Amino acid sequence: MRPAELIEQKRNGGEHDPAELTELILAYARDEVPDYQMAAWCMAVFFRGLTGAETHALTDAMIRSGETLDLGAAIGRKVVDKHSTGGVGDKTSIAVGPIVAACGVPLGKMSGRGLGHTGGTLDKLESIPGFRVELTTEEMVAQLRDVGMAIVGQTADLVPADKKLYALRDVTATVDIIPLIASSIMSKKLAAGADAIVLDVKVGDGAFMKTLDDARELAGQMREIGTRAGREVTCLLTDMDQPLGRAVGNALEVDEARDTILGDGPADFTELVLEAAARLLAYSDLGVDVDEGRRRAEQAVADGSALERYERWVRAQGGDPDPALLERAPVRRPVPAPRDGVVTRLAALDVGNAALELGAGRRTKADPVDHAVGVLCFAKRGDTVLAGDDLAEVHARDDASAGRAVEAVLAAYEIGDEAPPEHGILLDVVA
Ligand code: URA
Repeated sequence: MRPAELIEQKRNGGEHDPAELTELILAYARDEVPDYQMAAWCMAVFFRGLTGAETHALTDAMIRSGETLDLGAAIGRKVVDKHSTGGVGDKTSIAVGPIVAACGVPLGKMSGRGLGHTGGTLDKLESIPGFRVELTTEEMVAQLRDVGMAIVGQTADLVPADKKLYALRDVTATVDIIPLIASSIMSKKLAAGADAIVLDVKVGDGAFMKTLDDARELAGQMREIGTRAGREVTCLLTDMDQPLGRAVGNALEVDEARDTILGDGPADFTELVLEAAARLLAYSDLGVDVDEGRRRAEQAVADGSALERYERWVRAQGGDPDPALLERAPVRRPVPAPRDGVVTRLAALDVGNAALELGAGRRTKADPVDHAVGVLCFAKRGDTVLAGDDLAEVHARDDASAGRAVEAVLAAYEIGDEAPPEHGILLDVVA
């Protein structure tokens, strides 16, 4: 296998021999292929794509680059997992996990950190005082047995090829390539050993997939990879044209996830959480369908068992679940509506970038994250507002950054005279 020949073959629109592609990926993971050659190959894939057979070979090679886990065998239960392709204000796992666990289904999940305008679940969880995301596999298994849930950082040994390749793609404009995203996400899910997976594929301005057609294509490829490996996969295609829920920013999002577990969350976020929980319960070994899964998820919220499970989980990972202990930003500024009207647009990407500028996210992997800052979007698409109403509230470290964020959030809103076409959070299901 000569990397330069594979780059040329892909550049010219050819199809790789699966064994050669496997060797390219494994050699890259062993540091035997330099970044510049992999970057050139990724860019060739951007223009020429990968066939189904190539995508499978890539995924298998990524999995083979490291260790694999079998959580199901370790705890003697069918294990379900959920994953989002990434968006603005996406704290879904933090609310779904305790609900599913309260219904008696273990959810063990490996999550990532935020980069750019999208936040990461690990950063959000670390805004809880004392919360530990680095658990050993033994600790994770023990916690899954005791508490029924764990959300941890991906270990260095799991799919190391993806870790390297994703970091390279992130700085070479090669992230938003459907087969590369599909194999990146699915290699991690398969290596972590989930038997059934619910994938939340975000669609719109704040997501990698900007159109429903692209999202359907990504969903189809991920399902195909999963079913070929003998796993059950459902993809929920959900709206990311506006931020999810109201809160964007780490501690603010944890607070909102907790409110939702209590039954007091924003409508769009609550709907997504209950839908994802229902699908996970339907995949579990409880033997229930989606409707019964939904009923049980709603019941766990209503009777307080989901909140009780949230508190046990947070304590098990060393954190204090008291919301009063979440760090608060010292400066809060309202974003007033400039006129009467109806919100016709609230650009997720702009709000994500405003939160990033406030310090809630990171531009490079090494950047620190400010857990306290962020944005609360009170007015969402379709809401009627009067001039001077608070559209949103900026939570900032100082006056200067607050002022800049108020301008940026205001620019994310469009206020018109006619209500935009209505649609819910769930745009489609690929199952
Ligand atoms: N999330 C991932 O884990 N990988 C991608 O390629 C894109 C989003």
